[in-house]
Amino acid sequence: MYELMNAVEKSACYTETAKEIAAVLEGESNLIARMATVANILHHAFDHYFWTGFYLVDTEKPGELVIGPYQGTLGCLRIPFGRGVCGASAIARETRIVDDVHAFPGHIACDANSQSEIVVPVINAHGDLIAVFDIDSDQKAMFDGVDRDGLEAIIRASFG
Ligand code: SME
Repeated sequence: MYELMNAVEKSACYTETAKEIAAVLEGESNLIARMATVANILHHAFDHYFWTGFYLVDTEKPGELVIGPYQGTLGCLRIPFGRGVCGASAIARETRIVDDVHAFPGHIACDANSQSEIVVPVINAHGDLIAVFDIDSDQKAMFDGVDRDGLEAIIRASFG
């Protein structure tokens, strides 16, 4: 088990990581390039991240999310709206934190090592849901309000 950051250290790490992401994204308008950068930098900034990536709203298949840029083990390719933690967040357009994914009804197990999860909706400047950002940990109850606030700020700054 890796060493855990306390809340203050974790919050400071989100602030630093947000600055790094903003600097790298400066001047880049391509959405996939932006998503790949956000997933990469965050994945390597935090030890408690096991899988880090985006599921995009598929404009060709309404009601489905399709895999986007990610880091980690092989992800499921498609998730219907309403299914699993990602689908629940997409429907509600709200962040979802799940301490024990195995106790979450309809959880989609892409990797059996996944134990807890946070999913943040990605809403663009027009107010449209374009994706969800999903982070899994291989330990239970690894995400809290500090992760939510840090991630929502980064997602808003990068895609809002
Ligand atoms: N566990 C997710 C599916 C995506 S993966 O974990 C990469 C869910 O239930 O939404």
